[in-house]
Amino acid sequence: MHNSSKENVKRGFASRSAALRLFGQVLEGKRLDTALAEIDQLSADVAFTRLLLMQCLRLYYAAEPLALRFTERRPSRLDRLILIMGVVQLVFLELAPHAVVAETVALAPKKSRGFINAVLRKITHYWQTSEDQEALRKNAIAHNAPPWLKIRLGQDWGNDAASAILRAQASIPPLDLAFISPEARDKWLASVPFEAQILPHGAVRIKTMPIADIAGFAEGQCWVQDGAAQLPVWLLRQHLKGKKVLDMCAAPGGKTAQILACGAEVTALDRDIKRMQRFDENMQRLGFAPRTVLADGENWTAERDFDVVFLDAPCSASGTIRRHPDMLFRDHDPRLHEAQCALFKQAIGLLKPGGILLYSVCSIRPSEGVGLMARLAADLKPYAFSKTDLAALAEVIRMDRLPHTPEHQIQTLPCDSEAIGGMDGFFIAAYQV
Ligand SMILES: C[S@@+](CC[C@H](N)C(=O)[O-])C[C@H]1O[C@@H](n2cnc3c(N)ncnc32)[C@H](O)[C@@H]1O
Repeated sequence: MHNSSKENVKRGFASRSAALRLFGQVLEGKRLDTALAEIDQLSADVAFTRLLLMQCLRLYYAAEPLALRFTERRPSRLDRLILIMGVVQLVFLELAPHAVVAETVALAPKKSRGFINAVLRKITHYWQTSEDQEALRKNAIAHNAPPWLKIRLGQDWGNDAASAILRAQASIPPLDLAFISPEARDKWLASVPFEAQILPHGAVRIKTMPIADIAGFAEGQCWVQDGAAQLPVWLLRQHLKGKKVLDMCAAPGGKTAQILACGAEVTALDRDIKRMQRFDENMQRLGFAPRTVLADGENWTAERDFDVVFLDAPCSASGTIRRHPDMLFRDHDPRLHEAQCALFKQAIGLLKPGGILLYSVCSIRPSEGVGLMARLAADLKPYAFSKTDLAALAEVIRMDRLPHTPEHQIQTLPCDSEAIGGMDGFFIAAYQV
């Protein structure tokens, strides 16, 4: 074997071994962002390790039945994870079978290697001789969720949308960027050597890449923010210049940066000290200096003189599973509903007469969106978004999916704009006091 091929095999083994270890730990409850941050120390090939870890989590429920179909005995937990990782590589990442089998078998304890080798070979044979691989893959992805989630998606959005959401959740999301100004964005677009797309509201979409490689990132020209997450501020952009704005759940600061970029005078509040440290770093990088408050928004009071309050409330984050696939393995904290109600009421009380509240959650659960608004905001005056903006968004989002007037409520689903990479699921509503 050449030295360089030996080196590749070693790197392949180290990456797979790191991904396997972190995969098991995330399933046991380790935070995904902690696991991702550890890749650097565990593997030289950070991009491949990250891809493998994320796809094992995203595709767990699609890969597991395929893996178990060819086992005659119940595998140990470790063997099951190794087999799932094998299926993800063979079927969903379509990596070369001989390398996948050899390097995945090497991850197993000595006593299981024969078993893992036999099962992976059967899977490879089944896969290579199947007449319609695309149909098999689609069918596996249609079941790629724990039973509670499948039932919930069907009940909330109907079977067709539920299937489309599962498809979107299984895919590798693109990277969306926001810029400190339209001029900075246009200059950046003219200078980068790769393809970039502009969504109707100005979010820039590129293929995923390490953040450190994004030109202009370190210089504070842009930040990473999903296209759907950019909508709430964009929808109110005409109301922000020179206005007194409260961002009530501000960290890590994506929306605050957008509000500041519109020329508002911002108070950014959050109760989480660690997240506020990240917020400060982000603001420093972007050259912004908003007033910050570390406090619990449920009982923070001030004069009722805000023109606009953004309440980007804590939520199940069920609209962001493709970016946070660890959520497939744990349900959200039901006490979040109480927090959403308390924050909403507090936010309303901080607005001056005529002021606007924008409520948003990165959730696709109606109980945190349209259902919650029906309970909390029935007596409030809806604030209608601009018809021109809504028409522009209709190019990439289905605007007719809510039973209420779409002029003050928007619900995106992960399958919106599927052809160009989907977007996070977000609920957005606005009221004027
Ligand atoms: C969805 S995140 C906000 C994301 C942020 N708006 C952005 O665009 O980067 C929700 C935030 O609410 C904060 N939070 C949760 N409960 C809170 C409370 N009672 N008071 C203040 N902040 C709270 C969390 O610490 C978290 O940072």
